[in-house]
Parts: sequence; structure tokens; C-alpha cells
Amino acid sequence: MQANDIVDVVSIEQEANQFPWSTKNFQDCLKANNDAWVFVDNSDDIIAYTIVQKVVDETHLLNICVKPSAQGKGLGREVLNHVIDFAQSISSILIVLEVRSSNQRAQQLYSQAGFNEMSVRKNYYPATDGREDAVLMGMDLSFY
Ligand SMILES: CC(C)(COP(=O)(O)OP(=O)(O)OC[C@H]1O[C@@H](n2cnc3c(N)ncnc32)[C@H](O)[C@@H]1OP(=O)(O)O)[C@@H](O)C(=O)NCCC(=O)NCCS
Repeated sequence: MQANDIVDVVSIEQEANQFPWSTKNFQDCLKANNDAWVFVDNSDDIIAYTIVQKVVDETHLLNICVKPSAQGKGLGREVLNHVIDFAQSISSILIVLEVRSSNQRAQQLYSQAGFNEMSVRKNYYPATDGREDAVLMGMDLSFY
């Protein structure tokens, strides 16, 4: 992901999420030199993206998103596999992420890939009617 991808990325982010990241959130991630990728279709249009942060020997998955019209076709799994390959390539021992407790779709994707629930952060996210818990999930890479 480059700075000039952010307009398209934010447009997908807004379409796909009820509480989307802002343009500044993405700009800050790139400025902080987090690793970020976009995935494009045959016409070179962005259809998915992900951002991770390396924290000592862990990889934190900060954002993963597939454009709604491209969802449900295996792309989310491909993007997640890319993150797992990357984390292994930099010798991370753990990948961690937070996901809304209501986001069953993403939790299903992570569980199928081998992530386990580690803990719950109560009232972590804003929600339409108050706050919502975050489920903290992790994938142990130390055996790979
Ligand atoms: C979560 C997300 C990345 C999944 O991407 P996707 O391309 O739709 O997922 P895939 O087609 O690769 O499906 C992979 C797995 O996800 C789960 N999944 C996908 N669609 C689902 C649905 N409608 N209901 C339940 N599980 C679903 C399934 O486990 C699926 O595996 P299966 O097809 O073998 O059952 C996508 O829905 C998305 O971008 N959502 C909005 C942003 C978001 O919630 N990001 C995660 C924040 S933590």
C-alpha cells in the first residue's frame, strides 16, 4: 500500500465497515512504516488490503478488509494466508488481532486458519447502542 492508494482504500473501508478507519489512520500507519499491502483485480483496481505491525517477535494484524462485492470468494483467506506467510518470514512467534464480538464472519475466517481465542476486552469498540467487546485472537507460530 502506497500513499496514493489511500483514497481507494478508504472508499472500500467505508463501504465494508460500520465504524471505518479514517484517512488519517491509514496515513499514520504508512508513516509508522507498518507493513501494508493492497490486492488488485484483473483491471488493477484495489479489492482488498491488510496492515500489520511488527511488535518485537509478534505480528499484530491491524486491519484486513475485502471489498464487499469481492467477499465470499476466498479472497479474505488468501489475504490472511499472506499475513501468516509474512509473519513466518520475519520469524514472528505469534500473530495477534482483535475482532468485534459480533463479527462472526471474521472470527470464522480466523478460526479456520488456526487462530484461537485468547481473551476478551470488555467494551473495547464503539457500537450503535453503546460499546462492544473485542475478542483477542492469536495464532502460535512457534512450532512452525
Ligand atoms: C472478514 C472478511 C475479510 C472475509 O473476507 P472474504 O473474502 O469474504 O472471506 P472468504 O471468502 O475468504 O471466506 C473465508 C472464510 O470466512 C468465513 N466467511 C466468509 N463469509 C462468511 C459468511 N457470510 N458467514 C460466515 N462466515 C463467513 C468462512 O469461514 C469462510 O470459509 P468457508 O468459505 O470455507 O466457510 C470480509 O468479510 C471483510 O472484509 N469484512 C469487513 C471487514 C472486517 O470485518 N474485517 C475484519 C476485522 S477484524
